[in-house]
Amino acid sequence: MPLQLAILASGRGSNAKAIIDAIKAGTLDATIQCVICNVENAGVLDIAQQAGIPAHCIPHAGLKRPVHEAQVLEALSAYEVDYLVLAGYMRLMTPGFLLPFKDDGFYRVVNIHPSLLPAFPGANGYEDAFHYGVKVSGVTVHLVDEALDNGPIILQEAFPRLETDSLEAFKQRGLAIEHQLYPKALQLIADKRLCFRYDSVSERAYVEVKTHATT
Ligand code: GRF
Repeated sequence: MPLQLAILASGRGSNAKAIIDAIKAGTLDATIQCVICNVENAGVLDIAQQAGIPAHCIPHAGLKRPVHEAQVLEALSAYEVDYLVLAGYMRLMTPGFLLPFKDDGFYRVVNIHPSLLPAFPGANGYEDAFHYGVKVSGVTVHLVDEALDNGPIILQEAFPRLETDSLEAFKQRGLAIEHQLYPKALQLIADKRLCFRYDSVSERAYVEVKTHATT
């Protein structure tokens, strides 16, 4: 049974497109049940429509966070969803929103972040890393928990900041990595290769990736 995903996004949707393309190419064994977007006219809505995926626009403007979250959960309840995939979803989520996805102490919610977490959390990962003057940055795919950009890391990939880089060139290098890394991380979930562990020194949950798929 393919992994059943719902994508939450706020913007242009290039990661959503990369996931759709990986499914089409047969490198990701998943289906996208729906796309939910909190911003009217966002590019991701066109991408979903072109791919024939049900898309819901649920604007948050003027709504208290729990009210908006209840509307999103209501829309999601029409679908069978194994994992929520955050792909540029620029909203903080309350623990109440995450609760329906809680499973054995972790949440079936995945996010992609444009830095090597725990460095440069927040809304501007590429900009913050670039202006800090890092020599190496990267991309992180992680499980979501109650804190911002904090949950167990599934995959990370580093890339250099070249001396000649403009911010735009730096971002484009990162984005190309995002588009490979997100489908790859989701396929690890589809293959049941994630083991959930706890490190008593850091007192953090973390993910170990098994070498082989579990049937
Ligand atoms: C990506 O850089 C992602 O890492 C960040 O927001 C951006 C979304 O881009 N969280 P897109 O909408 O997927 O093109």
